[in-house]
Amino acid sequence: MIGVFDSGIGGVTILKELVKDYPNLDYYYYSDSIHNPYGEKTEEEIKIITKNIVEFLIQKGCKIIVIACNTASTIAVEYLRNQFPNTSFIATVPAIKVAYDKYPNTKTLVMATNGTFHSELWNSLYHSYHNPDTEILFCNGLAHLIEEENYDKIREYLKQYLTPYQGYETIVLGCTHFPIIKEEITNVLGHVHFCESKEGISKRLGILLQRFHIKQKNHKGNIIFYDSSHAKQKEERFSNLLNK
Ligand code: DGL
Repeated sequence: MIGVFDSGIGGVTILKELVKDYPNLDYYYYSDSIHNPYGEKTEEEIKIITKNIVEFLIQKGCKIIVIACNTASTIAVEYLRNQFPNTSFIATVPAIKVAYDKYPNTKTLVMATNGTFHSELWNSLYHSYHNPDTEILFCNGLAHLIEEENYDKIREYLKQYLTPYQGYETIVLGCTHFPIIKEEITNVLGHVHFCESKEGISKRLGILLQRFHIKQKNHKGNIIFYDSSHAKQKEERFSNLLNK
């Protein structure tokens, strides 16, 4: 069983890639919408919240856990690796290296949460790989609007904060909620190159499956969904996003 978690529905943008590449595995998706947004929480809060989720997923039989959230990954992955040495973690980080490798010399904008941009992991990534013309945009509150499906507010937000970046060619979606609103971003910025983390995560999972000799079944795996707020509409949204 592969555990996948996020502060809500955003991690589905990662899970979808995993199911496409490894359809015969079993997945347990933990949507922690009751604690959304993670981006404005303290490091200490994120560590406590994610430790509880990992304990839950381990009890469900997960040996590999994908932290399908940039904020939780950049802040807490080292802590979680130390706390749970027998579990393998795959971290999600903003795909700035993808922008660096594929679209050098383009005007590049990285969109992520406050928590991600304040993490040491992000800062070391940024120093190693950034295009010469790179800006960062603190997207406070945006993940929460996406979680709440508040499309009027999302459009307003993007118009206000993204319009100054018209002319940017490469956008790093440094929060797993953001791929859900690619269309709305394109409506403000026009055609851009989007850089996401999902391909890298899937590749990493492939390496771990081989390393641990994990066999895939010869039929489609199960996907279990759990939401910490127990809101009924979450499961429906999960299925819609997964099957879109
Ligand atoms: N999906 C999370 C991320 O990738 C959302 C952050 C939040 O809850 O603020 O950062």
